[in-house]
Amino acid sequence: MVAQFKTLDDLSADFGDITGKVALVRVDLNLPMKDGSATDLTRVEAVKPTILELAERGAKVLLLAHYGRPKGQRHSTMSTSFVQGDVEKVLDKELMFIPEVMGPVVEQSIGILGDGDIGLLDNVRFWPGEEANDPEFAAGIAAHGDFYVNDAFSAAHRAHASTEGLAHQLPAYAGRAMEKELKALDAALGKPETPVAAVVGGAKVSTKLDVLKNLVGRVQHLIIGGGMANTFLAARGVDVGKSLCEHDLTDTANAIMDEADHAGCTVHLPYDVVVATEFAANPPSVRTCNVHEVRADEMILDIGPQAVEALADVLKTCRTLVWNGPLGAFEIEPFDQATVSLARTAAALTQDGSLVSVAGGGDTVAALAHAGVTGGVTYVSTAGGAFLEWMEGKDLPGVKALSA
Ligand code: 3PG
Repeated sequence: MVAQFKTLDDLSADFGDITGKVALVRVDLNLPMKDGSATDLTRVEAVKPTILELAERGAKVLLLAHYGRPKGQRHSTMSTSFVQGDVEKVLDKELMFIPEVMGPVVEQSIGILGDGDIGLLDNVRFWPGEEANDPEFAAGIAAHGDFYVNDAFSAAHRAHASTEGLAHQLPAYAGRAMEKELKALDAALGKPETPVAAVVGGAKVSTKLDVLKNLVGRVQHLIIGGGMANTFLAARGVDVGKSLCEHDLTDTANAIMDEADHAGCTVHLPYDVVVATEFAANPPSVRTCNVHEVRADEMILDIGPQAVEALADVLKTCRTLVWNGPLGAFEIEPFDQATVSLARTAAALTQDGSLVSVAGGGDTVAALAHAGVTGGVTYVSTAGGAFLEWMEGKDLPGVKALSA
């Protein structure tokens, strides 16, 4: 699935000593912020090894990143200078902020940076050439560097100048985080040990249609949870009461189940569920019932304990697991139970060495953290859109360009 790509290990063969060379390093600093500081530094932690390795090897490291969606214009609230402090904290090093991405200011700044120093360029999306993937814009940035390192898997689904174009302008390498991510993803869906199970949860089938279509041809067990399961249950003729359900996707859900049948993929839908008449924490109306016993005024908010036990048995027969999306409304008790329980089973099997488990997507990362098993699975991807596109079987432009 993932073609050959160069890594930082190839730098010596290509350049010899990289002391004083300028490394243009694409990182993802699109951090969730509150009151001026980042609420989650996972993305910075992820790129730390690459930045420090290059700095320790004496390169002048120029960090290239986007922040928000300024649409090709300078926007006072979207400068990368806002995340400078957070990055410095994680790296335990000072950065030089450079308010441009090319031109004399960048050239002068490189002159001031010592070997092993790190500069932070401003938001590359302030310039329209970035999202347009304009080769001239990419060449303007490339003129300042000796080589390009892409360590931003989570932005690799964008064919932008800094994520794709630069790889055609300079010798290109995957950073350590990108390398780790690609290896983990390849182990999960590229060349996985079989049987493979996929858990796909979340609210809406419509946002994950391509994921489901791709997975039925690749995995042996497709476990559907969250609001999505309601649409599949309804397609099977189950009355889901006032559950979140996309009734207009009945045909699509049936087609996916037929495709799965042909491909030898078992689709797992819950046969017991946790329901309530209101969406609130521990509501008095909460109860567990068979899927055929959901009342007209109830909504399904989690899958039931018997279904979870059956799914745990399925995982015990599998060698690989890919997980995207929670099984229930995990952010509200007690509708977190199924997700927590199955996540713990997955982590225990992974720790026993019988399962390779890869999880990704914003909600999934939060759900695993809630279950206390983030460290227990083989790999957790912090990518949102890029992880989904990878699950859809699409080529990610930023990855493809590295392999070219
Ligand atoms: C992300 O936060 O998922 C990435 O940085 C991509 O951001 P984008 O969706 O604005 O391209």
